[in-house]
Amino acid sequence: MDPEAGHSTAEADFTHIPVLPREVTTYLSFGDRPVKLIDGTLGCGGHSGLLLKAAPNARLLGIDRDEAALNRATKRLDFARDRITLVHGEFRDIYDIARANGFTEADGILLDIGVSSPQIDDPERGFSWRFDGPLDMRMDRSCSRTAADILAEAGEQELTHIFRDYGELHSAAKLARAVISHRKNGRFERTAEFAGFCEEVLGRTAPGKLPLPTLIFQALRIAVNDELKQLEDGLNGALKTLASGGRLAVITFHSLEDRTVKNFFRLAASSCVCPPGLPVCICGKRAEVKILTRKVVTAQEDELAENRRSAPAKLRVVEKL
Ligand SMILES: C[S@@+](CC[C@H](N)C(=O)[O-])C[C@H]1O[C@@H](n2cnc3c(N)ncnc32)[C@H](O)[C@@H]1O
Repeated sequence: MDPEAGHSTAEADFTHIPVLPREVTTYLSFGDRPVKLIDGTLGCGGHSGLLLKAAPNARLLGIDRDEAALNRATKRLDFARDRITLVHGEFRDIYDIARANGFTEADGILLDIGVSSPQIDDPERGFSWRFDGPLDMRMDRSCSRTAADILAEAGEQELTHIFRDYGELHSAAKLARAVISHRKNGRFERTAEFAGFCEEVLGRTAPGKLPLPTLIFQALRIAVNDELKQLEDGLNGALKTLASGGRLAVITFHSLEDRTVKNFFRLAASSCVCPPGLPVCICGKRAEVKILTRKVVTAQEDELAENRRSAPAKLRVVEKL
């Protein structure tokens, strides 16, 4: 499923439909208790709104690295304005942000990793090859390195790594060499220009496969926003921020990210990491969490019919011991 495709009417007016809404509110359900919740990827406040409605005495800390998202969420969550604290920041700093705002020992944390519909659908943000716009892709526009900068400055090895590891592109090295050799003609500045160049170099996508520009733009976006490192740090920070009995729910849209979450949860849930065959445990590791989603959770048919962008979404949840 192409995550960039599938504009519904609701998306066309720059709103974001939260994915796996039933599943998220079931795993993070607290009734009337006066709980502390953290949404580390506030976006348009879709999930936060659902959680605040389901838990009328909850307070919620919302974090996003995109100022435009915070503005949108402020409006959407106005009904709960006395119960929310919204912060511009990165979820890799979740523990420090929580501590500064009285949200450590949180009861529930949600990370819905990736980009929101308004980000993808706004040509000026440069996330999509389907609309012409500047090759930007920064979620936080105060950061310095854009996608155009990476294409103009990164070495062949770094470009190959980005296209191969983040885009899972077979011809990563070929594209990296072509980008470098194109530099004598000037910088790529526009999404349409770069998407056209990719198709010239790699040919058109085979029928039934994800469009090559989708894979390549996704790879650049992950690199621009350092998304995998953010995720690793964010998972560690979130675990540290949770109260005992608190729950961490993570939604991903990319296989590399899902693998990162799955492995992190497995390790956190294991009580011994000694090499096999030792007669007694010498590592001293204790399980920190219980995994609540033995099988990864994905969208049901009725949700897919309403919101095609939920197709790649994968949810995993743990509870801190
Ligand atoms: C998929 S959207 C979240 C949508 C949200 N759950 C909703 O229902 O409206 C992801 C959001 O996370 C933000 N984001 C991505 N990485 C981030 C990070 N490392 N720190 C903070 N925010 C991040 C993006 O700017 C985007 O607004």
